[in-house]
Amino acid sequence: MEEIPVRVRGGEYLVHVGRGVYRSRLPELMRRLEPLKVAVLTQATVFELHGSRVMEVLEELRVGDGRPLVHLLPEGEEGKTLRTVEQGCRALLRGGLTRRDLVLALGGGLVGDEAGFIAATYMRGIPYVQLPTTLLAMVDASIGGKVGVDLPEGKNMVGTFHQPEAVLAEVETLSTLPRRELRCGLAEVAKYGFLFEDGILREMEGWPEGIPGEGYDMAPLVARCVACKASVVERDERDVLGERALLNYGHTFGHALEAATGYRHLRHGEAVAAGMLMAARLSEMMGIAARELAPRHLRVLQPLLEEAEAPYGLTSGEVLERMRADKKREGAVRLVLLEDWQSPRLVEDPPLDAVGEAVDEILNDMGWDGRGKRHGR
Ligand SMILES: NC(=O)c1ccc[n+]([C@@H]2O[C@H](COP(=O)([O-])OP(=O)(O)OC[C@H]3O[C@@H](n4cnc5c(N)ncnc54)[C@H](O)[C@@H]3O)[C@@H](O)[C@H]2O)c1
Repeated sequence: MEEIPVRVRGGEYLVHVGRGVYRSRLPELMRRLEPLKVAVLTQATVFELHGSRVMEVLEELRVGDGRPLVHLLPEGEEGKTLRTVEQGCRALLRGGLTRRDLVLALGGGLVGDEAGFIAATYMRGIPYVQLPTTLLAMVDASIGGKVGVDLPEGKNMVGTFHQPEAVLAEVETLSTLPRRELRCGLAEVAKYGFLFEDGILREMEGWPEGIPGEGYDMAPLVARCVACKASVVERDERDVLGERALLNYGHTFGHALEAATGYRHLRHGEAVAAGMLMAARLSEMMGIAARELAPRHLRVLQPLLEEAEAPYGLTSGEVLERMRADKKREGAVRLVLLEDWQSPRLVEDPPLDAVGEAVDEILNDMGWDGRGKRHGR
C-alpha cells in the first residue's frame, strides 16, 4: 500500500492507494474522528458494485447505531446541481447528522465533487473522506479539496475548497470500470507525464495496446500521479499562483471541444486527450517548444481516443467560438503550453489564428472534420 501526504493550510491528510484500503484504514479514521453517525453519499451503480466493501467494514466497526445512512446521488453531469445538494443536505438532516459526524464520498469525480460540496456546506461544514472509484477521481478529482456543482450556464460554477480528512483509493474498484472510463482516466495520467514526470510516459509507452493489460497493478502508477497532484496542491492550494492552473494542460481546448459538441460525443477525458494534442501542436507552431512534441503525444494519446464517438464535421471555428465565450467570462484565454517535456508554461491570449490552425490540424488528423486526411504530415 502506498501513502502520499497532502500538506495543506489546515494540516496534512493522507492518500492511501492499494488493495484492501477500506478494511485497513477506516478503523483508524473512525477512532480519530469519533463520528456518532456516518453517511455514505454515492450513486446506485457504484453502490451496487462496491458498496458492500464499505458497508461491511462500517457494520463491523459499529459506528453510531451501526446503520450508516446511504444517500444516492444522480448519475451523469446533468445531475450535479444545487438541487441535488439541497436533497443531499436534507437527507443528512433527516438522518440526524451533526458537525461531529462524517460523510463518505464513494464514487467517481462527480460524487466526489457533489458530496464534497454537501460536506463543505451542510451545517457550515462537516468532515468527509473521499473513496474514489474511477481512475480519474483517484489521480485527480479526489485530491486537493476543490468541490462544487454546475449551473446551467457552465460547469463547476458554484463551489468552494474543502479538504477531505483522507482519501482511500481502493484500486480493486477499478476492475469494474468500463474501458472507456479507464481511457478517460488515463488521459489525466498522461497529463502528469507530459507536465511533471517522464517515467509516467515511459510506463504508458510500454503498454502494447496503449492501455494497461489484464492483471496490471494500477496502484504504483496511481500513487505517482497522486504525488504529482499533491505537490501542485501544496504549492498553490487556492489556485491563485498559477501553479494549479498548469493542471489545465489540454483542458482549455478540451472544454471548448466538449461545449462545441454539446457534451454529447466526447467524454471529458477524451476531450482533454484531444486538447493536449492541440496544445502540443500549438507549442510547436508558436516556436515555444524546443523540440517536436506532437508524435509522442499522438503515440500516448491516440489509443485513449479509440472509443470516442467521433464528432464528425466539427470545425475549428466552432471550437474557437467556445474559447471566445470563455474569454468573455474569464477575461483571457489561458493555455498551458510546453517548452519541452515536463516544462509547462502558462500563455495568455495566444494568437487565435495559430490556435485555429492547431485545432484544424488535429481535427483533420483525427478525421473529425470530415474532410479526409491532408497530405504532407
Ligand atoms: N474537483 C476536482 O479537482 C476535479 C478534477 C477533475 C474532474 N472533476 C469532476 O469529476 C467529474 C468526472 O468524474 P469521473 O470521470 O470520475 O466521472 P463519473 O463520476 O461520472 O463516473 C463515470 C461513470 O463511472 C461509473 N463508475 C464509477 N466508479 C465505477 C466503478 N468502479 N465501476 C464501474 N462504474 C463506475 C459512474 O457511476 C459513472 O457512470 C466531473 O464532474 C468533473 O468536473 C473534479
